[in-house]
Amino acid sequence: KKDVLILAIESSCDETAAAVVKNGREVLSNVISSQIALHTLYGGVVPEIASRKHIEKINYVIQEALDQAHVTLEDLDAIGVTYGPGLVGALLVGVAEAKAIAYAAKLPLVGVHHIEGHISANYIENKELEPPFICLVVSGGHTHLVVVKDYGKYEIIGRTRDDAAGEAFDKVARAIGLGYPGGPKIDKLAKEGNPDAIHFPRAKVEDAPYDFSFSGVKSAVLNYLNGCQMKGEPVVEADVAASFQKAICDVLVDHAIQAVKDYKIPKLAMAGGVASNSALREAMKTACEKRNIPFYYPSPILCTDNAAMIGAAAYYEYMNGSRAGLDLNAVPNLKL
Ligand code: KG4
Ligand code: ZN
Repeated sequence: KKDVLILAIESSCDETAAAVVKNGREVLSNVISSQIALHTLYGGVVPEIASRKHIEKINYVIQEALDQAHVTLEDLDAIGVTYGPGLVGALLVGVAEAKAIAYAAKLPLVGVHHIEGHISANYIENKELEPPFICLVVSGGHTHLVVVKDYGKYEIIGRTRDDAAGEAFDKVARAIGLGYPGGPKIDKLAKEGNPDAIHFPRAKVEDAPYDFSFSGVKSAVLNYLNGCQMKGEPVVEADVAASFQKAICDVLVDHAIQAVKDYKIPKLAMAGGVASNSALREAMKTACEKRNIPFYYPSPILCTDNAAMIGAAAYYEYMNGSRAGLDLNAVPNLKL
């Protein structure tokens, strides 16, 4: 059987990324140009700046991905690209670039859903992992509980009603003065704090056991900080970080384990930026070990946005016969 080499492109938010992936699971290169430093100045991603930066970087990033993999366009079997969901101007840069290369090099084009990419990141380091499994997708823009029925076949059984998990991390981090992006900073600071120091709420959504709501815990943290200020009490930031993080992790673990039990699919994976949170990994690992549930999660570099995960997803789409035309467009609110 001939190897399938895919050049994958990702530009849905603030990382310009390209990767070469062999047979969906072997990463030959994974190049990421992050704009985080640029957006930090504004406390969050500025869409217009993101689009402009993608245009500046994308050709270099792709060339670097090809060079590091020691391949040329002639060696490739297909081009995979994220076409949604995400920032429309940012997505358009990757989509236009992918179409141009596909046309010029006469290669098939495969459109990839960004969340499908995050989920597929799990295939790269866990060669034995195959569907069906339950996947908790937790990133800056998404919080989903997904039944991965087969390659390319998904059922979303739970979603957030308000903030995404990563968004809650980012907002709380800003409130305690840690800056953007907040997730990794809270993760670090929480290690020095007491997770049981302050009780923040764990929200349940009525009649929707797998849905999430994080705006309440975020408000509770803000109220707590205001209260301290009014009473002139000192705030122990590390305790706030640790207690907030525990409140989020408890809910994520609880819902994920419930889904594994109810759907009788005893295999769990995590994906997305928040899946690199060290407390969440530990809590989920412990919960799974206790119940003998195999548990998978990608390395941090494959959790946050990257193109290797898009290459993994594109491979299975390609093998299923999925092809995009040169009329492929960016779809900012694309459904899974
Ligand atoms: O997957 P990702 O790179 O982008 C989206 O598709 O949204 O996720 C970025 C999000 C940010 O909200 C960031 O704060 C969060 O992931 N994040 C973390 C950690 N690392 C990144 N949250 C908690 N703990 C971390 N270690
Ligand atoms: Zn993402």
